[in-house]
Amino acid sequence: MRHSQRATRGKSARMSAYRYSAIALLLIAASGCASSQSSSPNVDLRAEEGGTTVAQATAKGLRGAERVGFILDKMTTAEKLGQLNQMAGGRQIALNSRITDAERDRVRTGGVGSYLHVAGAEFLGDLQHVAVEDSRNGIPLLFAMDVVHGYRTIFPVPLGIAATFDVDDAELAARVAAVEASAAGLHWTFAPMVDIARDARWGRIVEGAGEEPFLGSAMARAQVHGYQVEDLKRPDTIIATAKHFGAYGAGTGGRDYDSADISERTLMDVYLPPFRAAAEEGAASFMVAFNDIGGVPTTANKALVNGLLRGQWDYDGLIVSDWNSVPELLNHGVAETRSEAGALALLASVDMEMTSGIYAADMLEAVEASPALEAALDAATKRVLMAKDRLGLFDAPYAYHDPAREAAAMLTPDHRAAARHVAERSMVLLRNDAGMLPLKPQPGKVAVIGALAGDARSMIGSWKAQGREEDVVTVVEALRKRLGEEFVVYEPGAGTRDVADPAAIAKAVAAAEAADVVLLITGEDYNMSGEARSRSDIGLPVPQKALAEAILATGKPVVTVLMTGRPLDISPLDSDDASILLAWFPGVEAGPAIINVLFGDAVPAGRLPASFPRRSGQSPYFIGHNPTGRPADADLSKDSARYMDIPITPAYAFGHGLSYATFEYTNLRLSSDTLAPDDTVSIGVDITNTSMTNADEVVQLYTRDPVAQVARPQQELRGFARVHIDAGKTKHVTFTLRPEQFAYFAPSARFEADAGRIDFAIGAGAADIRLAGSFQVTGHVIADGPAAAIATPVSISEE
Ligand code: BGC
Repeated sequence: MRHSQRATRGKSARMSAYRYSAIALLLIAASGCASSQSSSPNVDLRAEEGGTTVAQATAKGLRGAERVGFILDKMTTAEKLGQLNQMAGGRQIALNSRITDAERDRVRTGGVGSYLHVAGAEFLGDLQHVAVEDSRNGIPLLFAMDVVHGYRTIFPVPLGIAATFDVDDAELAARVAAVEASAAGLHWTFAPMVDIARDARWGRIVEGAGEEPFLGSAMARAQVHGYQVEDLKRPDTIIATAKHFGAYGAGTGGRDYDSADISERTLMDVYLPPFRAAAEEGAASFMVAFNDIGGVPTTANKALVNGLLRGQWDYDGLIVSDWNSVPELLNHGVAETRSEAGALALLASVDMEMTSGIYAADMLEAVEASPALEAALDAATKRVLMAKDRLGLFDAPYAYHDPAREAAAMLTPDHRAAARHVAERSMVLLRNDAGMLPLKPQPGKVAVIGALAGDARSMIGSWKAQGREEDVVTVVEALRKRLGEEFVVYEPGAGTRDVADPAAIAKAVAAAEAADVVLLITGEDYNMSGEARSRSDIGLPVPQKALAEAILATGKPVVTVLMTGRPLDISPLDSDDASILLAWFPGVEAGPAIINVLFGDAVPAGRLPASFPRRSGQSPYFIGHNPTGRPADADLSKDSARYMDIPITPAYAFGHGLSYATFEYTNLRLSSDTLAPDDTVSIGVDITNTSMTNADEVVQLYTRDPVAQVARPQQELRGFARVHIDAGKTKHVTFTLRPEQFAYFAPSARFEADAGRIDFAIGAGAADIRLAGSFQVTGHVIADGPAAAIATPVSISEE
């Protein structure tokens, strides 16, 4: 795992011409810029004079680990601790605001290795000059930011990107983000968040890829590749961070930061696979989670971080703490002093400490008194320096600081087109019972109801990096542009948080009644999901619910567009004749993307990466639940694992999403009904578009191990492919599996796959299975990692 080995991501000819050319274009643009930026730093003079430590090493012709070793040998303990120190150079809403003269002095004395919440090619270039030219060692700084779903060109929130069920879309979004962020002086993003999220109450579900570890692993690989490509030395690449290592998404009750009291099996089989996939893809950085697993905060979890990640997985990248998570070890009650907290983290091999300054300020004496800490410090410093080396910063420290590149990179027409493309593909048609969608080209007078329809800030969701409201095209604007002002009436009706105002709702009702068609844009605003945004009630916000009920009661034809960063209880919207399009928070191109999907210029094919429960109290609901001795039974007279007051199913299960087209699944083919160790089995199916509409279908493969040493999940995603099929045409889709993909964390504490039957099912959603079968695994297999992290190759061919 020391090198970026690209796992097969099941790519195939399915990549559309548009996407191919979009990614290719970004790669070409970047390689041109790579050659113009690869000059050496201007440190020769210093080298002749003795120069900085880096200059001396470079002058000796040392490179890579040798140069890093030379630098390390010359560093004092305080300087090493300084390299592990990541300071906040500003705040999310006031970037660079903390870069004062005192801070520049800290750089000069080697007291800091990295800054976060900073941006700007020129501003950061100036600061880099201070580090490279005015400090004794001349070690460049690492500049970091949470570039999560775009830098200036904001894409859909990550949960929406996962809903594309397309790794190329995820890669494209990350690539555009890296091109822009790197042009703005940044080397490092704290993304992707690969935490599995099974509890919709958890606000950070918006930042990840949802409930299934196989989908999460695929999205993790794609994003890491988009940020880093294969070569971090290219100045248009940035270090990706797989976060928040451990089980951050498993907080009790869906509360952020809360304790994850999960079994080792669940940790290994469910929460860790996306991290494993990210490590295999070469993610150059990991972030540890704030929370504890069974009482051990991951920031201090030597067994998990140093033992499993570094040891068993052989991960040698840069591990960073979360914001202030080292001093928070005191709050957890596992350390009594700051230096004790720092020692725990350092010994767990958390290399860089984010924002509290503990390593630099409180650890000097402790390190000097402890050979174990000294060794840990050396190892951590080496990894920080190696990260800088991987980026090429020792040879080209100013490669990320070209203001002309920055000016040209932002929000280009290509980037906007990419954002619109991914946004359209992220949308999920939840239902279309009355067939209202797509809308007729001239639908008459349209009443757009709901404050979210004009809320530019909400269109871009949480973590907006440098996204700006003025860059956003809202739904109202896009619709007016398409139909003409005279055909569009807009009434906000109600906000998302405040108390409903009956007069404003009455105005909205009047507008709806006077219209031919109503577009109800409802849901949560951008600030109701994200960090520290857990909710106990995941229903529609109260004023939104009141507005929706009033509008639906008019009896007018209503199309609902749902904006949200989490699965919601949408029962008030969910009538038998409802048409509901889930748009998430779609990004800067929100309006055009939503309108294109509503009018059928783009056909929806997004799928749910997380199940929508019927009620808050059904959370957490996920398809990968283990069967019990008394599995949920629809028959209430039987004692079974269910709630009395709601059906056993969710409102919408993982993988659900409709289309304007219809598809038939036929001709199931199995290459063999046995699967031997070291062999593979292929499962093929024909998909026919039986409609008059060209569209994508997301073909999903689920498996289940009916008898094993431990109870195995009822359904596990093990393959998916988003396939474009023209009207009337058929495509063959073939998934290839190997026995390791049925392994699980067994009582032996190894990943084992038992001999025996495996059931599989293919369909358009976890609850929409069209074909099923089974085969026999003929021998016992030991795997070296979690099954869900293994990619399933997919091939797609024409009739
Ligand atoms: C979050 C991280 C984020 C960091 C820096 C923390 O509060 O948990 O995900 O990367 O802040 O902004």
